[in-house]
Amino acid sequence: MTHASPTLPNLSALRTAITAMQSLCDRQPDEATWLAATGAILSALIAQDTWLPDSHAVSDAHYFQQHALHIDPAQRFSISSFVWGPGQGTPVHNHTIAGWVGVLRGAELCQRFTENGATSLGPAVRLDAGQIDAVSPHDAQIGDVHSVRNAFEDRNSVSIHIYRGDISRIQRSVFAQGEQKPFQSSYSAVPTLL
Ligand code: FE2
Repeated sequence: MTHASPTLPNLSALRTAITAMQSLCDRQPDEATWLAATGAILSALIAQDTWLPDSHAVSDAHYFQQHALHIDPAQRFSISSFVWGPGQGTPVHNHTIAGWVGVLRGAELCQRFTENGATSLGPAVRLDAGQIDAVSPHDAQIGDVHSVRNAFEDRNSVSIHIYRGDISRIQRSVFAQGEQKPFQSSYSAVPTLL
């Protein structure tokens, strides 16, 4: 009788992205350079949906999940998977650091808002698998305030986020009914992957 060996996750794509991010951060780029390079790194990472282990694609019945994939030891960047259950989404929020969202599985709707969170800007943008969208507190064209939600009401979507820092340690804000409230996101209990 033979025993099937457990399927090991294929982490080479994530390792490649981490190594590229480390090299980028070593060069201490300005934000525009960081955004351009990180966008390319994230695009390569989400080009194929072959590497994310099931442990980091777990959804929750009530809240979207943020699973840590890698946190740079010096907190220069972080990579996480967001898992959106059917119809789940965020309140209007800011980031205060630059970052990219890239859809790995399913689709998301991103709605930009003015920096005070009071007014939506343009129509929501749909991101399908393989597409990316940036946030930036320093580039008004990109903007830092948005809400994001699963484009699907009947299945999960998964996106990969790369931020210029450990997003769980960043003091930021949510906006609702004209009020700005302090907010800090937290990772799920699933351990960091790498
Ligand atoms: Fe966001």
